[in-house]
Amino acid sequence: LADKDADLTPSPKAVAWHGDAHTGRLELIDQTLLPGELKVLVIESAEAAWEAIKQLRVRGAPAIGIAAAFGMVVGVRDRLRAASASSVGDRSAMANEVAGYLKTSRPTAVNLFWALDRMLRAAARLSDAPADSYLAGLLAEAEAIRTEDEAMCVAIGKAGAELLPIGGGVLTHCNTGALATADFGTALSAIIHAHLAGRNIHVWVDETRPLLQGARLTAWELQQRGVPATLICDNMAGMLMRQGKVQAAIVGADRIAANGDAANKIGTYSVAVLCRHHGIPFYVAAPSSTFDLSLADGSGIPIEERTSAEITHGFGRRTAPEGVAVYNPAFDVTPGALIAGFVTEKGVIRAPYVENLRLAFG
Ligand code: MRU
Repeated sequence: LADKDADLTPSPKAVAWHGDAHTGRLELIDQTLLPGELKVLVIESAEAAWEAIKQLRVRGAPAIGIAAAFGMVVGVRDRLRAASASSVGDRSAMANEVAGYLKTSRPTAVNLFWALDRMLRAAARLSDAPADSYLAGLLAEAEAIRTEDEAMCVAIGKAGAELLPIGGGVLTHCNTGALATADFGTALSAIIHAHLAGRNIHVWVDETRPLLQGARLTAWELQQRGVPATLICDNMAGMLMRQGKVQAAIVGADRIAANGDAANKIGTYSVAVLCRHHGIPFYVAAPSSTFDLSLADGSGIPIEERTSAEITHGFGRRTAPEGVAVYNPAFDVTPGALIAGFVTEKGVIRAPYVENLRLAFG
């Protein structure tokens, strides 16, 4: 695959910064409006960044981390402007406050915490910097997080493409594409690279209840790129596998523990169990920023629960009786034992995961 791929990357980007640290602005695609409307939001405050992450205007683990890093630049800039004289101590308190606040937006994707901790380390290194280079230094760190993710998307795509069956069906869940990252995506990058390399795959896109990231976002991205794909409801995957239409599944992740247990969009675990039953390899594609080796296993991964309205009023119309009890976990954990391999920027990592993940990322 040639490096002409640059012109295949989407425009506008899910997350972008325009201009310098002092006058520049953070822009996000409002993903809640897709596929109907492609609208770019200008984020003027940490509070607006928090809201955009919380409401899934920007979503997908790597994109959440990147948006939060730029959100920190915006938030610190705001507070510096409001403060008449800001000492080194004030600056560090502001950085801690903004990062701490942004960390409360969503709990599961470790990329959010990873990116904000990285921004805090940059802030600490910059503590003695003159006032005008302080913000520029923070922006440079956020840009580094973004450009590193771009490179990881390409490396993951190339490594993952080779795992996908020539002439076969590939199932994916949720959205792991350009909208979820800085560039091609993770699992979707593997799919796109397999397509560009002429592997002649057909993609089965789980719609991904309740917020339809598969239907609204993945189907849209694949259509834009001309990758042959068919949308299915989540509960159809088992039948398709039984019919022999799926030769591999590949998904992303929000947090992966030291033993390979992987949190991803609710419904992922069901796909993995179905794959095991049908003897189909189930892969997880993720950059190093998604691995949380501080957790021994998946039981320590915080699982976000979201409002019941996402289930009772899917996209506006009431579809369940008033007062019904609802449980709405946004993620589930797939045991490492069901995962055939992790596709990372360092290549494909196979079991035993405790040893091999530590070797790669420890
Ligand atoms: O709730 P979302 O849309 O943020 O969930 C996204 C996912 O579950 C993705 O699969 C994951 O973040 C990986 S994105 C490369």
